[in-house]
Amino acid sequence: MRTQVVIIGAGPSGLLLGQLLHKAGIDNVILERQTGDYVLGRIRAGILEQVTVDLLNEAGVGGRLASEGIVHHSIELVFAGTRHPIDVHGLTGGKVVTAYGQTELTRDLMQARAAAGLPTIYEAANVQPAGFDGEHPVVTYDKDGKTHELHCDFIAGCDGFHGVSRASVKDRIAEYERVYPFGWLGVLADVPPVSPHAIVYGNSDRGFSLCSMRSLARSRYYVQCPLDDKVEDWSDQRFWDELRRRLDPELAERIITGPSIEKSIAPLRSFVAEPMRFGRLFLAGDAAHIVPPTGAKGLNLAATDVKYLSGAFIEYFNERDAHGIDTYSARCLKRIWKAERFSWSLTTLMHRFPDTEGFGQRLQEAELDYLVHSRAASTALAENYVGLPL
Ligand code: FAD
Ligand code: DHB
Repeated sequence: MRTQVVIIGAGPSGLLLGQLLHKAGIDNVILERQTGDYVLGRIRAGILEQVTVDLLNEAGVGGRLASEGIVHHSIELVFAGTRHPIDVHGLTGGKVVTAYGQTELTRDLMQARAAAGLPTIYEAANVQPAGFDGEHPVVTYDKDGKTHELHCDFIAGCDGFHGVSRASVKDRIAEYERVYPFGWLGVLADVPPVSPHAIVYGNSDRGFSLCSMRSLARSRYYVQCPLDDKVEDWSDQRFWDELRRRLDPELAERIITGPSIEKSIAPLRSFVAEPMRFGRLFLAGDAAHIVPPTGAKGLNLAATDVKYLSGAFIEYFNERDAHGIDTYSARCLKRIWKAERFSWSLTTLMHRFPDTEGFGQRLQEAELDYLVHSRAASTALAENYVGLPL
């Protein structure tokens, strides 16, 4: 079989790329290792930058996002037991972020793909990209007891951090990495969010906390936890008690608790692989870079890669112009490193590290106090939070 672009991975990057290419009349096939239900079951990101919202509209899947997404004009920082608003909207000349779960975004993209009759091969095993250094790339995979071959012009590696695409060029790629000595314990619960108008980021001597949401009836909360903790160690009651202890008294009092519908522990990592193009193989999203979740940049960065990559492919197929594909890697990496810097610095500022004793804690509080009282510092935070310009 032959197609123009083989996309490996049906996460947000792969699905969005497929949709944008389809809109431009470019054939593509997606190969996904898991089932569709498995992909939809992963609870991950929740905050979209305007650039991401615009791209979803361009892809024709912004309908439910427009009616159900919750626009946020501000964030709040809690430290030393007090909450401070940052007027992100006012400081950035009117920019906002939108709360809309990655699960919902993925569902919208999957439905649009199915409605257009586009091929997605789920449970494709042993996917292998090859031939991408020459003119005739091919991707092989196993399904239903047979090995299949897909010939194409380009391969898009949208298969996340543990995918096969980056692994297939591991001898030719430079990797930059920082692993953090803690994780995030996340809880999803069908209770009204404690702060429906702002995402709350908390620094306390007990560690980081975050109050977010998926809708006005569904909350997403996180607390920093040791890496070797197990989800089973955390009863719902223990989680709610710990979250309350890390917030200011008024917010702690207001939290409405309920049974968790999902609970998981995620490690935190900063990671960048360079370059992002190898002949006719292109990496996008988590396949090429990871940020710690503080600041919600992961999904948004993936969307920007896809914007650049879809534009480059469209230019190539429609105008025979290779400029976009030749500059793809450098263009993406410039923006990625700025988001890496922001996510690393917000993580460093908000979390308790093994050596954050009294002195480190006071320094964090001093920096936070400066941040909330200096218009220049608040503006820098706000500008990065809503997403730097393309
Ligand atoms: P993925 O979503 O990882 O999708 C890759 C797809 O490729 C998957 O469906 C996978 O099954 C498939 N695949 C992998 N290997 C193969 C193979 N060999 N063959 C075929 N298919 C393959 N970001 C935030 O902004 N906020 C958050 O709160 C947040 N929380 C997160 C929690 C966790 C546990 C993780 C892992 C990430 C989190 N992120 C968060 C990051 C955000 O979810 C990612 O940046 C986003 O999912 C990237 O999308 P992607 O499509 O590039 O990769
Ligand atoms: C969420 C995750 C984040 O990393 C963040 O900074 C804000 C919100 C969330 O899952 O809703």
